[in-house]
Amino acid sequence: MRGRLWAALTLLSVAVLSASAVTWVALQRVDARLQDLHQETLSQVAQAIDLSKRSSDLATTAPYLLNQRSNFLIEQEGAKLLTVLDRVRTDWPETRFDSAQDPQTPVSDILDSMTAGVSDLVAASRSLDTLQAQLRERTVVLGVLRNTATTATASPDGDDAARLIWWSLQSMNSDSLNAAYAGNLIGVGEEQRHYLRQREALNEFPLNAQQEVFLQQLEGAVWGVTGIFELRRLELSSNLEAQNALFRIRHDANRINELAGEYAGQAEAFLAGERVASSRTIWGARMSVAAISAVSLALAMTAAIYVSQYVTFNITRVSAAMVRLANGDRASALPRRLGGKDEIGDLFRSFRSFRANALRLDRSNRQLDQRNALFEKVFTNISDGIAIADATGRVTARNPAFLKILKLSDDSAEAASLVDWLHQGRFAEAAQGIDLRHDHRGHCELVSSDGQVLDIRASKLPDDGRVWLLADVTERRKMSDRLQQIDRIETLGKVAGDTAHDFANILSTIRTHAHLLETRGHGDASESLDAIGNAVDFGASLTDRLLAFARKQNLTPEVVDLSALIEGMADLVEIGLKPNVTLDIALPMMPLQVRVDPGQLESALLNLLLNANNAIEDVGHIKVTLDQLGTDQARILIEDDGHGMPLDVLDRAIEPFFTTREGEGGTGLGLSIVYGFIRQTGGHFNIESAAGHGTQIEVLLPLAVADQVHKHLPSANACLLVEDDPKTRASVEKLLVELGFDVTTSDTGHEAMMLLKHNQFDLLISDLDLGGTIDGLDLVEAAGWGPHHVKTIIMSGKSSAKKGVPEHTAFIEKPVTSNTLAQAL
Ligand SMILES: Nc1ncnc2c1ncn2[C@@H]1O[C@H](COP(=O)(O)OP(=O)(O)OP(=O)(O)O)[C@@H](O)[C@H]1O
Ligand SMILES: [Mg+2]
Repeated sequence: MRGRLWAALTLLSVAVLSASAVTWVALQRVDARLQDLHQETLSQVAQAIDLSKRSSDLATTAPYLLNQRSNFLIEQEGAKLLTVLDRVRTDWPETRFDSAQDPQTPVSDILDSMTAGVSDLVAASRSLDTLQAQLRERTVVLGVLRNTATTATASPDGDDAARLIWWSLQSMNSDSLNAAYAGNLIGVGEEQRHYLRQREALNEFPLNAQQEVFLQQLEGAVWGVTGIFELRRLELSSNLEAQNALFRIRHDANRINELAGEYAGQAEAFLAGERVASSRTIWGARMSVAAISAVSLALAMTAAIYVSQYVTFNITRVSAAMVRLANGDRASALPRRLGGKDEIGDLFRSFRSFRANALRLDRSNRQLDQRNALFEKVFTNISDGIAIADATGRVTARNPAFLKILKLSDDSAEAASLVDWLHQGRFAEAAQGIDLRHDHRGHCELVSSDGQVLDIRASKLPDDGRVWLLADVTERRKMSDRLQQIDRIETLGKVAGDTAHDFANILSTIRTHAHLLETRGHGDASESLDAIGNAVDFGASLTDRLLAFARKQNLTPEVVDLSALIEGMADLVEIGLKPNVTLDIALPMMPLQVRVDPGQLESALLNLLLNANNAIEDVGHIKVTLDQLGTDQARILIEDDGHGMPLDVLDRAIEPFFTTREGEGGTGLGLSIVYGFIRQTGGHFNIESAAGHGTQIEVLLPLAVADQVHKHLPSANACLLVEDDPKTRASVEKLLVELGFDVTTSDTGHEAMMLLKHNQFDLLISDLDLGGTIDGLDLVEAAGWGPHHVKTIIMSGKSSAKKGVPEHTAFIEKPVTSNTLAQAL
């Protein structure tokens, strides 16, 4: 849109600028033409007229040349005239106004002719001057002769004939003088002919000496190039030439005048032409400005109408569609083809994405409604109690089953936190002993006074709140207890059967050899004694292994570096492997330290490696990898590409006495011992295997804490004494201190649980009944969870309570004395 407006404005600006440019150029041209007229034409015309005037003046001045009586003056005047002509020649304007109307004779030709005329005039004047001087001389001579003749004629001394001759001579002299003043050549000829006639007539008469001299002098002045007749004739012809030159000069001056006039005429015509051209140019400019203005106006109008119509029309469409959309009409749409690459196009696209968003919102609202309905259904109908707490731990929502499970009525007082809710019902006592703070994670179980088992699980919400899930697992617990019991009994039965079988063998061996010793008398007893010894050793090893399985081995844990341990046993292992079985050991760069009985760990790893070796039929590969898992665990991975275990074998692999290698000397105790040992050390043990795909065994061991690593040996006298009766607590504490124990006391099960969790004790001595939900046996169990082996002693007033105490826990009947205590320790 903005682009179109800019385009229209640019067009308009261009139009206006063009109009201005055209006008400016036209006016410039007119101005230039006018300047031409003034500066060139008019001045040239003026110059031409001035030069023509000079030519006319020259024509007027020229006749005066003839009057000059000196060659020098003639030359001077002639030079002046030629200078004038030269100026006319050089200054005559060259510019022609119209080349088509060139005059037939160019001014230079006329000036050439004029120059020739002036030169001729000067030459004629000069010769006239010479001739006239000679004529004057002859006239003087003739005048002297005339006087002589006149005197002789008038003299009375002579005869008539002589006087007549003198008279003829005088007449001849007169004729020659008359020729000197004759007006033209004919007159000179007349006088000459008359003179000759008289000279012929004189031939008839004899002349005297004086007359002869006179005639000779006369003849000398009359004839020849310098004679009076020839001089007068020459003077007259020079005069004619001068007149002729003057005539030509005048004629040429007139022609120059005409040329100047013609030049002025041309200038006038040129001026008229220029006026026409200028007015045509101005007209053209005017027309162009008018046309451009009209086009600009039309453009502006079109642009304005187009923009207003385009914008209004499209905005109306979009706003109408928006209104329909806002009113819930999701079908409200705009045609796809509309909307170019301008702001209106953007508006159309915005509307489309707005509509798409609205549709998406509708869809997600529908999904949300469905999900809400589902959630509501689950929340209301689930048999477990659900409580949702905010980040501060306050219960903000709960489902109907929540009250039902806690056996609270609907009119129970609203409580803030879950613990507050629990305190209202039958779990009040149980809840006291356990930590159900808001940041509780995982799950815990509460047992009510009437034996209901409540499983409580917490899940963290993204806003740091919690979802508490309360499930009544009383039945499930009963069932699982029962199953475990059955399982235990079954296993126990099997172990007992197998053990009994082995022991029966041992006993039968002993009995046979004892009998042999008895009956043989003084024979060689060593064989029987060896057999009895072997049987006893086998029995002892069986016992050890059973103890290991029962996690009751006497372990002597110490901090060891697993890399060093594994590396140390590698050679030994390789010797025991089948020839085509290769062993690959990958150890980390960093030492991984765990607190473990190194001998037992070695034998466990050996067991696992031998199992792997046994699983490989012919050629195979075993890989042992040691690495760290997370921040607090070391992992030993033993992988083999042997035959693997089918599911039924995998299920029972760690069961004591379970073996698939009966004929090959397998006892079926290997894995069960490894499992028992790892568990007793506080670690974990996982098997992954499938028939035909090899086996992976993972042993996880807790990394030694810094404290253990540095001390290497634990202080063996940290003791936790739990007793709710202050008197008994004080007396037992005294006894323990006397025995060298560092005693920590506690009077509730809950507190003791906390102490066990966060501290490491070597000895736990607890009253059986602590008056809360947590009793001495719970503490004993908790003490067994950690990696560190804790010695446990249960005290009770009732001797019958001993039955419930686990085997690895000592029992002291109250009152506790230093003797009974020492015994138990
Ligand atoms: N790496 C393994 N690959 C395949 N099967 C295995 C592997 N380790 C154990 N098993 C299976 O688990 C059974 C039980 O193993 P366990 O080590 O407990 O006993 P055993 O090896 O048979 O006898 P013993 O350990 O006394 O020699 C084995 O008989 C074998 O079938
Ligand atoms: Mg084995």
